Amino acid sequence: MSFALRRTHPEDAAAMLALFQAAANGPGLARYPDEIDADYIAATMARSTGPGGISIGAFSEEGLVGEIHAWRPGPRKFAHVLGDLTIAVDPKWQGQGLGTSLFAALFDAAREMVPPIERIELFVHTGNPGARALYERLGFAVEGRMPGRLKLDSGEVLDDFAMVKRLA
Ligand SMILES: CC(C)(COP(=O)(O)OP(=O)(O)OC[C@H]1O[C@@H](n2cnc3c(N)ncnc32)[C@H](O)[C@@H]1OP(=O)(O)O)[C@@H](O)C(=O)NCCC(=O)NCCS
Repeated sequence: MSFALRRTHPEDAAAMLALFQAAANGPGLARYPDEIDADYIAATMARSTGPGGISIGAFSEEGLVGEIHAWRPGPRKFAHVLGDLTIAVDPKWQGQGLGTSLFAALFDAAREMVPPIERIELFVHTGNPGARALYERLGFAVEGRMPGRLKLDSGEVLDDFAMVKRLA
């Protein structure tokens, strides 16, 4: 199964909506599927495809099968930071290296940004140990743990890890 990577455009919004709703059926994403709607996708794409943002999609013959995005927080004191990172891979495509490829493309794009990006930040919770292992393999380190930051509808409480990859 092959795929190609490219920056996303606002025209990809419908495909983004379908992808994120599918990925949100698992435990990894912060949002439940019913919290992912056209307004959320529009706001996300406005930040990630605008200045200071990065959004890269993975496209197969069937369309969008993965996406990663992040953006500068905004204030000048954080101009060296790329945050709010979110990644989603279509469940049928997980475990085949697509997430790793999307991160590699994001790192390349971040290295091109002016002023330079020095920190790439993300959050991953204790219910998603597979993703945390992937992030550690990609060079992210845990810089903080926030006990009880997530409360699931089931009542289960999870901790969140703040992870950072430093770009040289
Ligand atoms: C996390 C995610 C982006 C990884 O993408 P991917 O294409 O599956 O990743 P890759 O194929 O490049 O890498 C696979 C690695 O991911 C890790 N991993 C992530 N989720 C995993 C899971 N549910 N089970 C097992 N391993 C998992 C493993 O370390 C695995 O390593 P291995 O290949 O040595 O077994 C993808 O699983 C996904 O979209 N999950 C749902 C949404 C989500 O959790 N987003 C991240 C929120 S922080």
